[in-house]
Amino acid sequence: MGYLLTSNLRAGHPDFLDLPWDYPLEQWQRHTERWVDLPAGPSRHPVVFVHYDLNVYALKQLTGSAAEKEYLALRQMQDLRLPVVMPVGHSSTLHDNTEYSVLITRYLDHALPYHSLFMRSSLTRYRDHLLDAMALLLVQLHLAGVFWGDCSLNNTLFRRDAGKLTAYLVDAETAEIHATVSEGMRRHDLDIMEENVQGGLLDLHALGALPQGIDIRAVGPHIRKTYDELWQQVTSEQLIPAGERFRIQERIRRLNDLGFSVHEIELEPSDGGANLRLRAQVTDRYFHRNMLHSLTGLDPEERQARTMLNEIQELKAAMASRQKHSATLSAVAHHWLRETYLPSVERLRPLIDQGSEPAELYCQLLEHKWYLSERASSDVGHATAADDLLCRWRNLPHDVAGVATETDSGSETAG
Ligand SMILES: Nc1ncnc2c1ncn2[C@@H]1O[C@H](COP(=O)(O)OP(=O)(O)OP(=O)(O)O)[C@@H](O)[C@H]1O
Ligand SMILES: [Mg+2]
Repeated sequence: MGYLLTSNLRAGHPDFLDLPWDYPLEQWQRHTERWVDLPAGPSRHPVVFVHYDLNVYALKQLTGSAAEKEYLALRQMQDLRLPVVMPVGHSSTLHDNTEYSVLITRYLDHALPYHSLFMRSSLTRYRDHLLDAMALLLVQLHLAGVFWGDCSLNNTLFRRDAGKLTAYLVDAETAEIHATVSEGMRRHDLDIMEENVQGGLLDLHALGALPQGIDIRAVGPHIRKTYDELWQQVTSEQLIPAGERFRIQERIRRLNDLGFSVHEIELEPSDGGANLRLRAQVTDRYFHRNMLHSLTGLDPEERQARTMLNEIQELKAAMASRQKHSATLSAVAHHWLRETYLPSVERLRPLIDQGSEPAELYCQLLEHKWYLSERASSDVGHATAADDLLCRWRNLPHDVAGVATETDSGSETAG
């Protein structure tokens, strides 16, 4: 038998005192109704999921006081606005005179472990996006001064983001947060990534789960190449002719397109004033997310937010040409939320009840509307596209998770 020694928890979450702390985590399935069976990547430490109403939490049992260190690293990374699982608290327990600690995080909803992206035929189109998402996550961490030390497919979770993927860091046991990350540390992190990714894919291969034609050894270097290109794009110094100051806006826009918020622009005259040296300092990768949130209160992923903002901008232009005067972006955004987004999401309720994430579903609806409108050579509207999407979904074969396994337009309809 054992017992709970201490718990440090953030406000706004349950106290977790009713969990069977007398037992090690491996035995919780038999001792609490709160235990939930959810897919998890392979791990050295026991991980369990428990639910409190609709909220699910992940608990990971570590030896000694390691959970506190990981909790603090995750908190710091969350403060740096990095995509990491949300830290909720840490506890310490005693079992057979040995001290353990338990890290508590919010379960990342609608996340896909990489296995399913390689194994489910309906998800193959996400594979390339998975590699891009990993590269982008490493760039974000390094820009913020974080050395990960254990970048792997298992330690990353993937969420759909407007047809692509956004990667989240799930395992921060080895993470170190510095003011900046040196070139040597970045290279070291990339070496670890390459080795781990190859190991993860070899595991899948051994299980016979890797489709033919995937060159295992090429995947890690591919992620590194994407990383290097992105790093260069974000951090490089640019020399612009003094007469081409529009290039400053161009650079900011390119970074915003990648989702980065630009905090500061550094300009330094060079070559006797003929040129300007330009450096951009980015903060987080929430540019469109921040903007959409301030306009509508919605808080989707970054690419989803960009897709929605594009639609709001189009609507603004259309309204201006119809009404001969221009409404503010904020007024148009409210109109869009009330008249377009919320009714569309409501119409797709059956798919949401089956587990689809509303913001991603809305982006799929836009893609499907575009596809139908192209075929009809006129705009079919949101309601027609939503009904068609529902109709296709009802007529399609589904796998056990309720995911449609094929569609005409290439847009998936649930999952
Ligand atoms: N908050 C969370 N939301 C969703 N899944 C989670 C969460 N926390 C953990 N998991 C799942 O549990 C798995 C194991 O977690 P984690 O990688 O932290 O364990 P670990 O034992 O430290 O791993 P390693 O063997 O790499 O040291 C993850 O791959 C993920 O699938
Ligand atoms: Mg892990």
